[in-house]
Amino acid sequence: MYRSAVYDEPLLNELASVRTHGLSVVPGLPKTLQRKKPLELPNLDETQVVRHFHRLSQMNYGVDTGMYPLGSCTMKYNPKICEAIAAWEPFSCTNPHQDVSTVQGNLQIMFELECMLCEITGMDYFCLQPAAGAQGEFLGLLLARAYHENNNDDKRTEVILPDTAHGTNPASASMAGYAVTEIPSNEQGTVDLAMLEKALSEKTACFMLTNPNTLGIFESDILEIQKMVHKAGALLYYDGANMNAIMGKTRPGDMGFDIVHLNLHKTFATPHGGGGPGSGPVGVKIKLEKFLPVPRIGKTRDGKYIFDYDAPQSIGKIKAHYGNFSVLLKAYIYVLLMGRNGLKETSEIAVLNANYMKEKLLKSGKYTMPYKELRKHEFVISCESLKQEKDVRAMDVAKRLLDHGLHPPTVYFPLIVKEALMIEPTESESKQDLDTYVDRLIKIADEPAEVVKQSPVQTPVKRLDEVGATKTPLLTWKMI
Ligand SMILES: Cc1ncc(COP(=O)(O)O)c(C=O)c1O
Repeated sequence: MYRSAVYDEPLLNELASVRTHGLSVVPGLPKTLQRKKPLELPNLDETQVVRHFHRLSQMNYGVDTGMYPLGSCTMKYNPKICEAIAAWEPFSCTNPHQDVSTVQGNLQIMFELECMLCEITGMDYFCLQPAAGAQGEFLGLLLARAYHENNNDDKRTEVILPDTAHGTNPASASMAGYAVTEIPSNEQGTVDLAMLEKALSEKTACFMLTNPNTLGIFESDILEIQKMVHKAGALLYYDGANMNAIMGKTRPGDMGFDIVHLNLHKTFATPHGGGGPGSGPVGVKIKLEKFLPVPRIGKTRDGKYIFDYDAPQSIGKIKAHYGNFSVLLKAYIYVLLMGRNGLKETSEIAVLNANYMKEKLLKSGKYTMPYKELRKHEFVISCESLKQEKDVRAMDVAKRLLDHGLHPPTVYFPLIVKEALMIEPTESESKQDLDTYVDRLIKIADEPAEVVKQSPVQTPVKRLDEVGATKTPLLTWKMI
């Protein structure tokens, strides 16, 4: 296990002693820092440990197990070839501290990915550094601040967003030091232009919008919106978490957005969730380019790739090193794999699947849909009638789906829909799986209330006290 090229003999003996006695006897460690009594570790043999972890792995549910239609999370199939290439040693063993001359291929990939994302979104420049959508939002808002400050326009202290916005939008705005103004949506579930007009002022720094929004509805007034926002001297920010709905169809850059973030870990071949590495690159129009974080990835005349720090008006760095390279790499492979037509078809099928499910569910009459507009990649139905009829709530339906072997959709979001179930099937599900999911939802609506309300009963853990779990979390393990 230990290689003598790395560890010398006495150290190996010390480490063996640590393993045997659980004592902290690491050479050179001051006595005061050393453990006074043996480490409490469960005394298990290898078979038991292997079986324990194997059992745990079987309890896990992922998109490779079944449908995972978490609305706004785009839990779609991630092609295994992207994983395999990203795990290939020449990529996985590169280190951000290596001399650039030894990682020219990596830089080329990042350089070309920036170009691809510009093409997909209609933006002029991209920064690949942010590690999540929320960090992309934060960066976008810092860029907006730098832009306004550079114009000596320092009265702009507010960010406006619609009530359909994802929670990270107001959080990012507030972290960037802005006051947040939320405007209510209209009866169609889209931006209320009159409300927007009222909210816009010389204090507005930015209007943040997801399009299609979190109800899955395309903001068809977007050209009017961009005119209004720009007329007020503000910038228009695009939350690209829902990009899976529009690839190859339309582009935020063409809609008039000035700043965009994408969630590569949703749309472009990296699983979303689980706290794993993500990537929320930010694209900007040319007027914001000079503020982008350093280093920028450049290409010299003789074809060499470089990290370029020569950007005196840059806001600085947003993340250590250059972004989560493995996620960037998977996105790059995915775009090459799909090609222009493949990305377009992806969005077409994602939208078709969502509308197919929506229609079937609505026809069943078991669920209602507060906003009737045509949906893009996701839709939101309500369990309000079930609640009225038999006190069955969205959370009960979600928990009961677990008993039926299915992962629930997003619940209680967006906040403007009561008892919301937000379903995003994605393009990667078969008609058979879509039908099964709809059938189970219909079945659950017909089940006796006490069965649904007690669920889940088939899962390793039953219904959890979710508030308790967040308020008084038990984060450490205690030896009994
Ligand atoms: C619409 C929307 N915006 C922003 C985000 C934030 O992205 P992240 O979770 O990568 O921070 C999400 C995440 O689910 C989202 O759905």
